[in-house]
Amino acid sequence: MLFEATCLVMDSANGLPYVDAYVQQIVSEHAAFDVTETALYAEFFSAMRDELMQLIGDDWTDARAAAWDRQISALIARGFQ
Ligand code: HEM
Repeated sequence: MLFEATCLVMDSANGLPYVDAYVQQIVSEHAAFDVTETALYAEFFSAMRDELMQLIGDDWTDARAAAWDRQISALIARGFQ
């Protein structure tokens, strides 16, 4: 699941065409796992970003932080809401 989520952020940023359909598929499959509160996706991506920030340490620049925030927001707007 973490691998898929990481790929999704990068593929969304790179404009890969499968992303919109895959987002719909994830939302629909997760409803079967009782994940129906879509705000959880924003929290999930924020937590993922925060973990990366910890791992990357001093190399986590303001520009990188801004890029992650921008890409996460764009991905959520594609259907995780
Ligand atoms: C874009 C974000 C996400 C992606 C790409 C994703 C992807 C997946 C995938 C591929 C699976 C299938 C099995 C596995 O690999 O473990 C899965 C299972 C699951 N996901 Fe997600 N997921 C995402 C976000 C979330 C969120 C936000 C929640 C809840 C807070 C969640 C809860 C679950 C649950 C409960 C399962 C079932 C685990 C099991 O019983 O085996 N997922 N997810």
